[in-house]
Amino acid sequence: MCGIVGYIGGEQAAPILLDGLAKLEYRGYDSAGIAVYNGEEIRMVKSMGRLKVLNELTHDGATLPGTAGIGHTRWATHGAPSDTNAHPHFNETGSIVVVHNGIIENYQKLKQKLIRRGYEFRSETDTEVVAHLLDYYYKGNPLEAITRMMHQVEGSYAFGIMFQDHPGEIYAVRKDSPLIVGHAEKGSLIASDVPAVLKYTRSVYFIENEEIVRLTQDEMVFYNIDEEEIDKEPVTIEWDVNAAEKGGYEHFMLKEMYEQPKVVRDTFSPRLKNGDVVIEELGMSDEEIREVRKLYIVACGSAYHTGMTCKYVFEGLARIPVEVDLASEFRYRNPILDEHTLVIIVSQSGETADSLAALREVKKRGVRVLGIVNVVGSSIAREADNVMYTWAGPEIAVATTKAYSTQLIAQYLLALKFAKVRGTISDVEFAGMLEDMERLPEQMEMLLSNKERVQRFANRYLAARDVFFIGRGIDYAISMESSLKLKEISYIHSEAYAAGELKHGTISLIEEGTLVAAVLTQEDLFKKTISNMLEVKTRGACVLAVTQVGNTEVEKAADYVIYIPKTNRYFTNSLAIIPLQLFAYYVSIGKGCDVDKPRNLAKSVTVE
Ligand code: M6R
Repeated sequence: MCGIVGYIGGEQAAPILLDGLAKLEYRGYDSAGIAVYNGEEIRMVKSMGRLKVLNELTHDGATLPGTAGIGHTRWATHGAPSDTNAHPHFNETGSIVVVHNGIIENYQKLKQKLIRRGYEFRSETDTEVVAHLLDYYYKGNPLEAITRMMHQVEGSYAFGIMFQDHPGEIYAVRKDSPLIVGHAEKGSLIASDVPAVLKYTRSVYFIENEEIVRLTQDEMVFYNIDEEEIDKEPVTIEWDVNAAEKGGYEHFMLKEMYEQPKVVRDTFSPRLKNGDVVIEELGMSDEEIREVRKLYIVACGSAYHTGMTCKYVFEGLARIPVEVDLASEFRYRNPILDEHTLVIIVSQSGETADSLAALREVKKRGVRVLGIVNVVGSSIAREADNVMYTWAGPEIAVATTKAYSTQLIAQYLLALKFAKVRGTISDVEFAGMLEDMERLPEQMEMLLSNKERVQRFANRYLAARDVFFIGRGIDYAISMESSLKLKEISYIHSEAYAAGELKHGTISLIEEGTLVAAVLTQEDLFKKTISNMLEVKTRGACVLAVTQVGNTEVEKAADYVIYIPKTNRYFTNSLAIIPLQLFAYYVSIGKGCDVDKPRNLAKSVTVE
């Protein structure tokens, strides 16, 4: 996730900006830059790579004198990591400069309009649109230009902005991306997050959606989008620097679980337009979509589990046969591929060695590959024929949660698109599913707010030796992911089984007190799975059920039930996984494990 800093005051700005950016490094970034106003002109230095490069280029800030400035660490979304795409971005004359965190969803449309008005673009970013748009609206009043720009842009944003003919002022504004401001003895500061300002002040203002702030050395004035002045109360930050990096959460994993409603919305919202699913980056005509006769979803670990779920979604909605394969197997098994095959490689990092090798194998055979990738400009993103990005932002905890959730959403969208084009879904069902998708973030929030209940249950199983997860269909896929979450961060042995398979061998492992977690989200399979729960319960198992609200019948076979809200049958994974992620998390911290960095694991597996 990008990081923004800004400073205006009596000190040299550049060293303060560089220091603030260093405090935001934990957010992940691929390039960095700062712009400083020296009283005559705004000068900028930006570069790909670590902050060290920026420090060297500016001699730790000494080559950019001036007491007002903005800075940025970029985590690429639109346009690969490069010097040119790094922030800040100028208007054409260099009199307005902008840094941005977020995604401008309608940037293509705005860009075309601006090009028609004669603006020239230097970068591939969505942000540059805003620099030119501000230029277009600027008639001497920064506040007016900013509010007019806000009325035009759709999506999420936090901006830091400077205008050359308004020395002594910085502007900041936000919608759906975090931004704070603080006033210190030495001046005023803006930042994406608290750690960047803690050295100077503990009293900060959280900017709310569509609020604007004008900062000078001595004061901060807040406005709403109607340019009316508003009052805000500061908040005193009690956290230490470590906790502040995690937004006050104890661990990155918990923070990332709580980001899920937002990133899920960020992933579907730009692709839902006027009651339709629009995936411009798919690069396939309707004719080509109709010609696909077979899909392969190829991935590793949790990404593979999203494919296991989405096999049911694609087959159910679009009626295309789907094979889901572990990349490490696929690459060596000489799969049958032809011109009617589409291969989808799913990867958070875009660098997983087996997934990348599988992609290359497919390309060698001249078959089309679509990447579903989180890291912009990563190897899989670059080498796939087309890439659909998940907008999860950088994920720091080794155990994936938010990237997993966005991978599901990307595949739901694809399945819906394919179903619509192939005529395998009715208009009513399609419209209903889009409504259900839009409700998911709120439903996820509701499940997250029940974390204490899950924690109490988890605390009873800190000494568990084995835990089994069972389910049928999509619920089996959810079980696989839940089992992986638990074992990777708590080191408790765990397996997932298709519930109907238990009696073919596994049931002999059940003894008094063994925990079996059953997932029941598919109405037509409730009765079947309840029978399997009874089979293990009568053999002494303690049964946890995760099921849809209303399925009270489950209570006769479960010792403990977690209900999830109703949603479309194909979307249930997105909700059922939340309490099961929380369960794994609380078992892990209850056991004192290093939840963000489990032993023997790496975030990105770049070796075979
Ligand atoms: O970066 P990728 O999505 O390609 O990574 C694939 C797996 O290594 C990954 O999902 C792994 O299983 C998770 N860290 C599990 O939480």
